[in-house]
Amino acid sequence: MRVMLGITGASGAPYAARILRALSDHGADVGVCASAAGRQVIALEIYGDRGMDGGDALERFVADHGSPDTRIWAERDYSAPYASGSSRTDAVIVCPCSMASIGTIVAGAEANLIHRAAGVQLKERRKLVVVPRETPLSSIHLENLLRLRNAGADVIAAMPAFYHLPQTIDDLVAFVAGRVLDSIGVDVTLHERWGESQVGAP
Ligand SMILES: Cc1cc2nc3c(=O)[nH]c(=O)nc-3n(C[C@H](O)[C@H](O)[C@H](O)COP(=O)(O)O)c2cc1C
Repeated sequence: MRVMLGITGASGAPYAARILRALSDHGADVGVCASAAGRQVIALEIYGDRGMDGGDALERFVADHGSPDTRIWAERDYSAPYASGSSRTDAVIVCPCSMASIGTIVAGAEANLIHRAAGVQLKERRKLVVVPRETPLSSIHLENLLRLRNAGADVIAAMPAFYHLPQTIDDLVAFVAGRVLDSIGVDVTLHERWGESQVGAP
């Protein structure tokens, strides 16, 4: 399975870390592309270091959470397979997804590889999952999210639930990551499912 994980500058880098780890454990062929703001958020939210170089943060992030085969693609490297519909990409996940990137994808402006890959998935009617995070949401944000949903994307908001009685932040993170993996058909159980109890099952 070929997957691109796009990481943009919304809060929520831990969700991306959990998704990357699960995809890598699953044996998926994963490419990672992070925007400049996404790299800044990784430095802050994963390594607690606001001053860390974004490129260094991304490399460390992929080494910590990916597999040795996980490839990093530069923000404007359109030689990546995800940039063309002629390459078969099973899923593009944009997590976390900023409102800026949502707006750019919806406008079809394709300003970087993440937006381009998202647009390719929509035009090819393949899987695109976005994980937006912002609050409160303006009517512009809400309308953009609706347009993206109507264009074929899965919108899985970074909204963890509490009915599984989370004990740790990782439980909350795993809930959102698990819903993303469900939506692309990766069969791992990161979170407890209502009516079942098998957290941690393979
Ligand atoms: C630490 C940090 C947290 C941010 N959190 C959010 C957020 O939760 N949602 C959002 O839409 N933008 C957020 N932003 C603003 C975006 O990063 C900014 O709009 C940026 O231009 C997005 O560009 P990108 O989509 O190319 O990453 C945040 C910025 C920083 C530095």
